[in-house]
Amino acid sequence: MARHLITSALPYINGIKHLGNMVGSMLPADVYARYLRQRGHDVLYICATDEHGTPAELAAKAAGLPVAEYCARQHDAQKAVYDGFDLAFDYFGRTSSRQNIEVTQHIARRLKENGFIEERTTRQVYSLTDGRFLPDRYIVGTCPYCGYEAARGDQCENCTRVLDPTDLLNARSAVSGSTDLEVRETKHLFLLQSKLEREVEAFVEATGAKWPTLASSIARKWLTEGLHDRAITRDLEWGVPVPADAWPDLAAEGKVFYVWFDAPIGYIGATKEWSDAAGEGEERDWRSWWFDVDTDVRYTEFMAKDNVPFHTVMFPATLLGTREPWKKVDYVKAFNWLTYYGGKFSTSQNRGVFTDAALELLPADYWRYFLMASAPESDDASFSWELFASVVNKDLADTLGNFVNRVLSFSRKRFGDEVPAGHEAGEAERRLGEEIARLLAEYEEHMEALQFRKAAFALRALWSAGNSYLEEKAPWLEIRTDQDAAALTLRTAMNLIALYAVVSEPFVPSTARAMREVFGPVDGAPALPEGGWVGAGRARALDAVPAGTGFTVPPVLFTKITEDDLAAFRERFGGEPEAA
Ligand code: 2FM
Ligand code: ZN
Repeated sequence: MARHLITSALPYINGIKHLGNMVGSMLPADVYARYLRQRGHDVLYICATDEHGTPAELAAKAAGLPVAEYCARQHDAQKAVYDGFDLAFDYFGRTSSRQNIEVTQHIARRLKENGFIEERTTRQVYSLTDGRFLPDRYIVGTCPYCGYEAARGDQCENCTRVLDPTDLLNARSAVSGSTDLEVRETKHLFLLQSKLEREVEAFVEATGAKWPTLASSIARKWLTEGLHDRAITRDLEWGVPVPADAWPDLAAEGKVFYVWFDAPIGYIGATKEWSDAAGEGEERDWRSWWFDVDTDVRYTEFMAKDNVPFHTVMFPATLLGTREPWKKVDYVKAFNWLTYYGGKFSTSQNRGVFTDAALELLPADYWRYFLMASAPESDDASFSWELFASVVNKDLADTLGNFVNRVLSFSRKRFGDEVPAGHEAGEAERRLGEEIARLLAEYEEHMEALQFRKAAFALRALWSAGNSYLEEKAPWLEIRTDQDAAALTLRTAMNLIALYAVVSEPFVPSTARAMREVFGPVDGAPALPEGGWVGAGRARALDAVPAGTGFTVPPVLFTKITEDDLAAFRERFGGEPEAA
């Protein structure tokens, strides 16, 4: 069994994330991690808050809090939401941790020793009004490439181009709005990516061939444009300090590393935090996941498309330049944007759905399933309340929830609270078994390929197959003439519930648990039956729950969203954005 290292892009600390962030990184990573764990793989799923740089400083300022305190509070707030979403991280760390500071400084020292970091005098934008340099998000202006007017100093959100503050047209301070800016000289460290270009290219050629097109095409586009040396330090209060032993002058000036330098290293830092948090007698070795493990660990990264350049080019360049055997990514799963009625999710304009608000409305499973079934994999996808309601009502309430309740209530009414025996399986059950085996194989194939929409589709088809079987057999009619025939149908349908309880778990973990508990108390996450469901395991797919097993009828699994609910949601969250 391979060991699987999984990371999802680290959410910025500057506030609760919206559903678009969730579906483009953490949620699919969690679904994948759960799927692999079920299949007996050794999985380590690591995430953390991305706490440095201008986003953190600006948000703390807006909140009127010291930045360290702001980050501590926001970390806890985000963690609570992710717990609410049932994200089963092995560890959710912080890039401001001691561990991350240590690894980041270590990597910087190695890069210096190997001649990949150089001190250069640079020209930076200085705001006379604010009395400070304006790195990255401290400055906004028009993107010179696409004309987007709210581009930030580090990256244009619209065309995803990475920028320098001095590239912006009509630049202004993000703090004061002042245009009273001048360019001043100051010293910074540069990562000499140009010297590493060949190696990064070779890495992308070798590994990237198997990535989805979205990831590999962005990486190639970047490489074609040529790798430029990039400043990796900033004049900020808050960040990983430049180590004084390596660069005494810059350390004395209080320079810190650029947030995009220490953020991906944060995957390693958070794994170290996980290691350090090991309980008595618990074996946790962060090195065994990151250092000198090229072949036996498979590393998958999840992220939205704007993060791809940093993960496919800059982070590999950073690791390659250390000349140490750090684990590098094997598979980059990238996502397009989830839009809100075709427009951007916008905090300032109160448009879109934030993850904390989503959980106030409905339990996590409603969101998890809907988001994965509409994940922006091959293209951008649009969220609308109408679509959400229709998916919840049809797939979750009617197809899955109603099936479970109908079968169990009817059986209890007619046969009591044990799974009834009835006839031996017949032709209809044989056909159902074949259909289920085919769909399970399809589901597994898509999950192995990290094609989540298709996997969700196969999962829904599995739920549907149960409904079709029930309609075909109609136990409510069978019971009038042949009790044993009805009992066979119900027993088979209950076996489907037991199967759904396992196979649906990555998508809807608490509903899956409720379905497992139908047949008695459960402990831990569901594992696959031995041998799985393919090949010889097929026969067992409909045979796990024998006649005589006790069961209970759970409360309704999913409630439908009504027209009134819809109207209230639209009112609260803002309806359609104005036409662009
Ligand atoms: O775009 C973002 O939200 C970044 N905070 C992602 C960082 S990913 C990793 F490198 F830390
Ligand atoms: Zn642009």
